[in-house]
Amino acid sequence: MVRSTKSTESLADEDAFELLKADHQKVKGLFKQFKQLKQDEGSEADKTELVKEICEELKIHTQIEEELFYPAVREAISADEVGKDEDLMDEALVEHAGAKDLIAQLEEMDADDELFDAKVTVLSEQIDHHVKEEEGEMFPKAKRAKLDKQSLGAQMAARKAELKSTMSSKTSTRSPKAASAKSSSAR
Ligand SMILES: [Fe+2]
Repeated sequence: MVRSTKSTESLADEDAFELLKADHQKVKGLFKQFKQLKQDEGSEADKTELVKEICEELKIHTQIEEELFYPAVREAISADEVGKDEDLMDEALVEHAGAKDLIAQLEEMDADDELFDAKVTVLSEQIDHHVKEEEGEMFPKAKRAKLDKQSLGAQMAARKAELKSTMSSKTSTRSPKAASAKSSSAR
């Protein structure tokens, strides 16, 4: 396991499944941190900041899945009599739409807003379900159908890096609320 940090030179041998699994792990870890922060009654600023990070990770993740991964899986498994599953792919899209809606709401909120914690918790439950379906059902079907995980992974890694840089340049000039959260949580 050499690939702990994703440098640009490692992008070419990225495996599509591993890339998505690493995203899933990362986001799960962030949700765990949020739960801990909630238990320890952490500051509102820290919570707001953490949820901002979760939302960004998830936006990039859902986007690369929708743009690249899902179409490739759909195509690969449609040719496989046993693994064929249009419903699974359609449901994944509908579930993304639900998550995106919560993400959009959370991005307009601060941690002291009513229902903030509840929305984060529901989002984390949705993501747990998403991870179970993908890693438990979709990935095995796609692997069975011999999806080209290497070339797809390289495309996904490149797109991810691109989205990350656009997003960080956008968020650095964003709402004053977010900026004040940042400065008060810095030490
Ligand atoms: Fe995923």
